Amino acid sequence: MKKAEIIQLPKFEDDRGNLSFVEELNHIPFKIERTYLIYDVPGGQIRGGHAYKNLHEFIIAISGSFDVVIDNGTEKQIYSLNRSYYGLYVPNMLWRSIENFSTNSLCVILASSKYDPDDYIYDYKEFKNIVGK
Ligand code: TYD
Repeated sequence: MKKAEIIQLPKFEDDRGNLSFVEELNHIPFKIERTYLIYDVPGGQIRGGHAYKNLHEFIIAISGSFDVVIDNGTEKQIYSLNRSYYGLYVPNMLWRSIENFSTNSLCVILASSKYDPDDYIYDYKEFKNIVGK
């Protein structure tokens, strides 16, 4: 079964400030084809609310905090992200939304493919049928 997973990134602590990094096919199990940002989210708004047929992603709260809600068709799990040195790896075929954004939070998403509207599943019933639940 597909499973989301928190991945800790390297962290170099320094009096000058901390440094973290992420390498494709090393810290995360896919090649990065695209990076996008979600920011200036008004209080109470929810992003996402869909699944991807093929895309894998890694979601980081670079600043502030938010919750990523993952639903595998049977059960939901909430991952609270609030540090820049870890993120949530989300493979394809999981229903996910991002909510509870703090003021001024910055969400960075590393994605395994270019934007492709045909890769989205927006219909929850269709998602459930495909995952066989
Ligand atoms: P959308 O996928 O609907 O956002 P959410 O993840 O909250 O459901 O994307 C919003 C708009 O941005 C939509 O018109 C498509 C566009 N978009 C791109 O052009 N490129 C991208 O990489 C992404 C993620 C979205």
